[in-house]
Amino acid sequence: MTDDTDGDSEEHSDEAARPTPALTASDASATATPCIGVCYFPEHWPRERWETDVEQMAEAGIEVVRMAEFSWGRLEPERGAFDFEWLDTAVSLLGDAGIDVVLCTPTATPPKWLIDEYPEILQEEPDGTTREFGSRRHYCFNSPVYREESKRVARRMAEHYADVDAVVGWQTDNEYGCHHTVRCYCDDCAAAFREWCRDRYESVDDLNETWGTTFWSQQYGSFAALQPPRHTAAEHHPSRLLDYARFANASVVDYNEMQADVLREANDEWFVTHNFMGHFDTLDAFSVSESLDFATWDSYPTGFAQDRNTESVTEDRLRAGDPDQVSLNHDLYRGPAGFWVMEQQPGDVNWPPRCPQPGEGAMRLWAHQAVAHGANVVSYFRWRRCRQGQEQYHAGLRKHDGSPDRGYEDAARAATEFESLGDLDGVDAPVALTFSYDDLWALAEQPHSPDFDYWGLVGAFYRALRARGVQVDVVEPATDLDGYEAVVAPTLHLADESLATRLESYVDDGGHLLLGPRSGYKLPGNRLQSDLAPGPLASLVGGHVDQHESLPESVDTTLTYRGDAYDYRTWAEWLRPETADAVGEYTSGTAGGRPAVLDHVVGDGSVTYCGVWPESDLADALVTDLLDRGGVAYSDRLPETVRAAERDGHTWVLNFSGDPIEVDAPDDAEWQVGDASIPGYGVGVVGAAVADLSVQ
Ligand code: GAL
Ligand code: ZN
Repeated sequence: MTDDTDGDSEEHSDEAARPTPALTASDASATATPCIGVCYFPEHWPRERWETDVEQMAEAGIEVVRMAEFSWGRLEPERGAFDFEWLDTAVSLLGDAGIDVVLCTPTATPPKWLIDEYPEILQEEPDGTTREFGSRRHYCFNSPVYREESKRVARRMAEHYADVDAVVGWQTDNEYGCHHTVRCYCDDCAAAFREWCRDRYESVDDLNETWGTTFWSQQYGSFAALQPPRHTAAEHHPSRLLDYARFANASVVDYNEMQADVLREANDEWFVTHNFMGHFDTLDAFSVSESLDFATWDSYPTGFAQDRNTESVTEDRLRAGDPDQVSLNHDLYRGPAGFWVMEQQPGDVNWPPRCPQPGEGAMRLWAHQAVAHGANVVSYFRWRRCRQGQEQYHAGLRKHDGSPDRGYEDAARAATEFESLGDLDGVDAPVALTFSYDDLWALAEQPHSPDFDYWGLVGAFYRALRARGVQVDVVEPATDLDGYEAVVAPTLHLADESLATRLESYVDDGGHLLLGPRSGYKLPGNRLQSDLAPGPLASLVGGHVDQHESLPESVDTTLTYRGDAYDYRTWAEWLRPETADAVGEYTSGTAGGRPAVLDHVVGDGSVTYCGVWPESDLADALVTDLLDRGGVAYSDRLPETVRAAERDGHTWVLNFSGDPIEVDAPDDAEWQVGDASIPGYGVGVVGAAVADLSVQ
């Protein structure tokens, strides 16, 4: 039986519902027994079905359910006329089954009556086009009336659920900035931008000087004269653009903090989180997370492999995603209290260019990969394929007739396996990799090559570390680096003296730094340093950059590093060593014979400066030299489709290919999940160090 009301024939047993201790803000920590969750929209289904849904969730071992992120129209059909009854019913059905509930503020979708009352809530494009009602995320973060309305609805919901035990925490809004909505260009944003600049600069002359507005006569006579960077004939001034990117980000930071405050006022035991996106450009997740207890993110591996990847899309990536692209986000969003995957791809999805079925078992593989990188909850999106609206072509754990879909079995299996692993400590990463949204924004404005993109450059170094099974914390450059054996900075494009001083003291005290190209080129205001690159980092690097060039794929791009031949791509700098040694030299093109890589002993540590975007063999050579210096153990180089990750004494071996693999582990190592023969798109968990494993 597969109709909406009757449910299918699976029997519900009381044992299936496993009450779990509530997760609260105070005990949200890196240590937990990982568990499975799901995103549920009871408002899309007849209420006679809800009980069956909850039984089937419990049977699958689901312990957390997220709800209500788009429910404003249902919760408040007209101003002031709140209807909580339906959500109360759903919350209590879940609570009775021992399932924790995460509620969301419903602000990603302001209802029609509100937009009709205050059309100024809507966002505007750079050319003045309004982003109309009829989809989602159609509100401006700087609309004063929308801030008040958001506060009103969040407070009303929070107060209503303040004493409900099943509700353990909140997600603010949903995916801030999805569909290019961080940056809005309306009049409210214009006013807020002027205020933001007044706060940031001592005077308008200070702004003119920091930006460098003498170029093309772009001086401003007052803060009041500033506008958002709307449509222009040619490209915008890069300093104005960068500040607009920072301002737009700060608007989301403020907006989120406002919501988090309202929620905590109602119940300070709740955790507050937000669901970020993968490889997402316009929002600085570090800054938004300052008002959260921990971050969560939404992981759609086969979609990302197509729509935000410069790498080729192989059959395996279409079926299981690109493991490093996914785990870079796990490592970026992981904080001291771990992280969650709030939305995990459940099967086929609706939004990439093409939508193949994931490989057999891939939905379980993704859950394990997330946990190996420190996730405490992996929550699938969505419970059931929806029969209405924009996402009818998006799978759920159940099909739209209510029967189990492929992801349901995978999720249930993962739930049992996580239970058997028990409590796990967080990830203890020996290496930090720096990530700077300011650099991402500045380089996106002036990539200087169609192939230059920040994620790609970061990925080149990150992949090399992951191919050796090394756990990596992805951190802001301003983070305290003292605890790390080694640091990789794929680029530090905008740099000032204080960054240089921090890095110098890290290296001086015995730290080892691998620094990538385009570093120290610019001041934080996005204009060139007065010194040649790497500007304030020159004494650390022990030399300067004489020239740079960007090159297409059709040109030979080769060099030698410590005597061996390698390829690079996209970007090359001709280096001039001063106190450093040249350990790499170009062997192609006009650069031939010039230094490409510098090595510099500084105090008790070392700095390697790599003037190119390395292809994978060169990245591996650079990274393994760094790991050797830092005394970090690593595995044999893993195939591209196999990854290994260690957490709390367990190593996950994750197979992102359709072909089986054999793992060579020490004889006394115990397999806690699977065994040494791992099938295509399968996973094994073994009690051994990653460095003691090898894969055939
Ligand atoms: C996410 C979003 C969900 C749903 C999902 C589809 O970006 O948060 O609401 O749209 O994608 O894959
Ligand atoms: Zn706006």
